[in-house]
Amino acid sequence: MKHKVAPSLLAADFTKVADEIQMVNDSTADWLHLDVMDGRFVPNITFGMLMVDAAKKLCTKPLDVHLMIVEPEKYVEAFREAGADVITVHYEACPHLHRVVQQIKATGAKAGVALNPHTPAAMLEDVIEHIDLVCVMSVNPGFGGQKFIYNTIPKVRRLKDLITVRNAQTLIEVDGGVGLQNAEKALQAGADVLVAGSSVFKAEDPSGAIDRLKDIGGEIARFA
Ligand code: DX5
Ligand code: ZN
Repeated sequence: MKHKVAPSLLAADFTKVADEIQMVNDSTADWLHLDVMDGRFVPNITFGMLMVDAAKKLCTKPLDVHLMIVEPEKYVEAFREAGADVITVHYEACPHLHRVVQQIKATGAKAGVALNPHTPAAMLEDVIEHIDLVCVMSVNPGFGGQKFIYNTIPKVRRLKDLITVRNAQTLIEVDGGVGLQNAEKALQAGADVLVAGSSVFKAEDPSGAIDRLKDIGGEIARFA
């Protein structure tokens, strides 16, 4: 399966957000990634359901909603109603992760679980087959434009092995500091989805930047 590219709106120009989303619609991107931050789980605050709802009205591609918030179980249904297609919660924010994953799936959304850079892949050993997507954070969540942390690559490989051994269908997403300089390594390790904020929206030609991320590895199927 060809990997997916999910531009992260966080790096877009918010004075012309409709144009930025239109660019994504017209591009080879697969999903639109939306970063919800609460100023508690992470030090930054971004936006909530209203922005997801607006993006849903403008965007023709699935919305990949990354909740960097405490107690995400309080808002799962609201984000689904706003239009989220994938809802990702943080492992570190969920003492009852299995329950939250079931809650997300019950809304009809795909359930994602994100791991901070210091959280080992093994923490998902007993829940992996229930998860549709694992988001491997390659920066400490909270801000766009940070440097890619390379311990992400072996972690992706360990997750890929776990997914293969369990015969699970879970996709692996890499999020943070992703660009042409590291995307190939992430894909070789087993990543299925590349989230890219700055490397897309801060590029001179954002649509071309998406094409280049999408083109890595050509059209040849990757073997697990
Ligand atoms: C970081 C967010 C990322 C961020 C990626 O907390 O989860 O999705 O937008 O942006 P870049 O690609 O600029 O690191
Ligand atoms: Zn994100």
